[in-house]
Amino acid sequence: MGYALNTTDDYHLHGLTSLGWELTLCNALFPKNSPCRGALVREASFGEHLFHFLNEKIHLTHLKTVLEIGGGMGYLMKDLLTLAPRLHATMADISPVLLQKQKGSLAGFSAVFLETDFFKIPLTDLRAFDLVILNEVLGDFPTLRAVDGPSSPEAARFAARIADFEADYNLRFDPAENINIGALEALERLCRAGVPCIYLSEHSCESSHSDPAFPGMNFSPSGNPEKISLKGHAEFTVKFSALEKMARAFGYKVFRGPYTDILPISFNDRVTAALRTPSPLSDRQEILRQFLYDLYKYEYLLLASAPAGKG
Ligand SMILES: C[S@@+](CC[C@H](N)C(=O)[O-])C[C@H]1O[C@@H](n2cnc3c(N)ncnc32)[C@H](O)[C@@H]1O
Repeated sequence: MGYALNTTDDYHLHGLTSLGWELTLCNALFPKNSPCRGALVREASFGEHLFHFLNEKIHLTHLKTVLEIGGGMGYLMKDLLTLAPRLHATMADISPVLLQKQKGSLAGFSAVFLETDFFKIPLTDLRAFDLVILNEVLGDFPTLRAVDGPSSPEAARFAARIADFEADYNLRFDPAENINIGALEALERLCRAGVPCIYLSEHSCESSHSDPAFPGMNFSPSGNPEKISLKGHAEFTVKFSALEKMARAFGYKVFRGPYTDILPISFNDRVTAALRTPSPLSDRQEILRQFLYDLYKYEYLLLASAPAGKG
């Protein structure tokens, strides 16, 4: 067995012209008339939900500096800066197109923009931030895909780090398993820089859902990062338990769970009908079903080092 390397840099640098077709949860909840808002207990944007969640856990309004990596359209940061006006934001993105969108969304707010690959930001610069956010970004980072046969030279360079990760953080990777090597390296950089608060979220390969009332929505965890094919590139779901172990090794307090903790579902008639139907009866119901599935499939990891963490 060996590895092939999945990367998305080339796509984000040269292929991406719009995030429209890649409907992130943040974008799905952005329009005030989005049908997805009606599926939640509080009909609000993603940023508003995340603000309340973070403020309860890490006193967001007391923090001064936030770095968002891969901020997409900039909607999440717009909400955070509106609700926590003392925050100064830095937006770092590899995509020139999306960074331009972020400048538009954040016009009039206190924000600095960096066109850069996250892995090129020096550790000393990361130290300046109280909070770093990576929302739906980890799956874009390099992933080792297990293949029959030898590793490609570029994959072998990344695979050379597997043994270190296993030894340093008490991890074990099966030879047939795909490895979120970029996500591991990204978190290690943030932990080594001593960033007090780190928020990560992504499609998880370890989430599950089981509700006898809605059997069509149930799924079990694969435990192995799964490929998600998208326009012009592919991403992988993330094995959060490996990231959690790493964070604990660095002494962080860990909050981990499904997205439904941040975005609680309102089980109203529309939602229960969408959950129950074997196949969607309308476009609206299809959007709702995909949104609800994503809420169950995504996980978040919020890491806090004392004294930034509360409770
Ligand atoms: C799926 S989008 C998520 C956008 C946004 N966070 C959201 O939730 O709507 C991934 C984002 O990460 C950025 N990105 C991907 N790889 C990156 C890298 N190596 N360094 C910095 N940004 C990166 C992309 O350009 C894009 O803005």
